[in-house]
This record gives sequence, C-alpha cells and structure tokens, in this order.
Amino acid sequence: MKPEIRICPEIDSLSRAAAKAVFEIATAAVLQSGRFTLALAGGNTPRHLYGMLASEYRDKMPWHSTHLFWSDERNVSKTSPESNFKMAHDSMISKLSIPPQNIHPIPTELESPESAAQTYEEHLRDFFQLENGGLKYPKFDLVLLGLGEDGHTASLFPGDPILNEKEKQVAAVNASSKYKTQERITLTLRVINSAENVFFIVSGGKKKEVAKTILDGSEDSREKYPAAMVQPKDALVWFLDAEAAGEH
Ligand code: 6PG
Repeated sequence: MKPEIRICPEIDSLSRAAAKAVFEIATAAVLQSGRFTLALAGGNTPRHLYGMLASEYRDKMPWHSTHLFWSDERNVSKTSPESNFKMAHDSMISKLSIPPQNIHPIPTELESPESAAQTYEEHLRDFFQLENGGLKYPKFDLVLLGLGEDGHTASLFPGDPILNEKEKQVAAVNASSKYKTQERITLTLRVINSAENVFFIVSGGKKKEVAKTILDGSEDSREKYPAAMVQPKDALVWFLDAEAAGEH
C-alpha cells in the first residue's frame, strides 16, 4: 500500500499537522472503543509534536482515555537524558493530568533488557487481551515512528535478525557502537504492522536520501531499510519537513 505523504515547510508546521492528525485519530478511537492506544516514538524529532499535544491540544485531546506506550526504549533509567520515556515525560506527560495507570513505559528498571522486553510483551498481551480477544498481535490505534539516517526505525536496525521475527512482539536488541546506548528494547515489525495507523515524523536534510529511497518504494529498499518494512495494512502516513523531503 502506498503511504500518504504530507510535506510541511518546517518542523513547527510538521508538528502542527501531525498533532491535528493524532487528535483526529484519538477522538475517533475513543468514540469507537472508549480508549486511544498510542505508541510513542523516541529520539528528538517528536519532541515538538509532544509539546504541541501538551499545549495546543491540552484541552482537546481525550487524555483520560488515552493510553501511552513506547515504540522503543534505550536500556537506561527513566531519568537518563537518553531515555525516550524522559523525553516524552518532559515534553508532554509532565504538563498533563493523565491517569498514571494510562502510562505504560517499558520497564528498564528490571535486571536486563531481555527481562524488560518479556515483561512488556506480557503487559501488552494482557492489556490488549490477546488470549481471549482473537488478536495475535496488539493493535495500537496509532504508532509514532522516527527515521534514522541509516533507515532504522524504533530500535529496528538494518541487518538485525529481529527484522524477520514472527513470534516475539517486544525484543531486546543491540544498536551499533555508533549509538551512545546500544542496549535497546523495541516493538517488532509484526506489532508495528498490526497498528490501525502508523505515522513517521521526519525532519532534516540528513534524512532526505534515505526517505526518498524508501518512499520511491523500490524492492531493495524494502530489504535494506527497516523503515521500509513498515507496511501496515491500514493507514501509513509520512510527515516530512521540506528538508527531509528534499525540497530545499
Ligand atoms: C530512538 C528512536 C529512533 C529515532 C530515530 C530518529 O530510540 O532513538 O526510536 O528510532 O526515532 O533515530 O531520531 P531523531 O528523530 O532524533 O532524528
């Protein structure tokens, strides 16, 4: 399925467009099922979006029915500057009154990333009632993702065997030594591709080559870049600023 591509002049208008789309999905999800399940992206780009959700959409979003999860996490404490939880907490969660039970961080306080991954998977199975709900994988209303310059997304890196994982829903992986935190926990592609909606939020000229290759839809990009393997059968939207879209 060809993704929808939305190009905005710069990070602010990009975040504004994405925030509006998140709000629309949230509203529809709560109307339909009484809740909105959102998996947050890590890194830095989504910080602007999260800030906008906590300000311009503070009184519009159905926060009391919104459940926040993470698409991936670094195996660090929740107070570490490397923590994706901390980034979302500082830019959004701390500014809102979301019920604590609606916040589902990846449990990096456990003794190992493998234990964190297993525990998180058990939590997802329970929350989405997979055993008796007829679903094989958790079905998030929306998964937010970023794009690395090497085509990674979440903590799914090129060449990692986890890309072919058919059973696991959450996995402990190791990023290459070029990353400050190598030990990671990530949703697998099976879970990401089961989502009702997936948004990529991509900003900056450094990503224009890999974004173009992926969005051109070439076969080899689908074998090479994890972000190109994100092919949900439902809605996929790429939000790009002009630089990432190669329009500058
Ligand atoms: C992480 C993210 C990762 C991120 C990309 C893009 O834990 O780092 O999940 O996949 O989204 O690396 O990061 P930026 O948005 O900071 O460029």
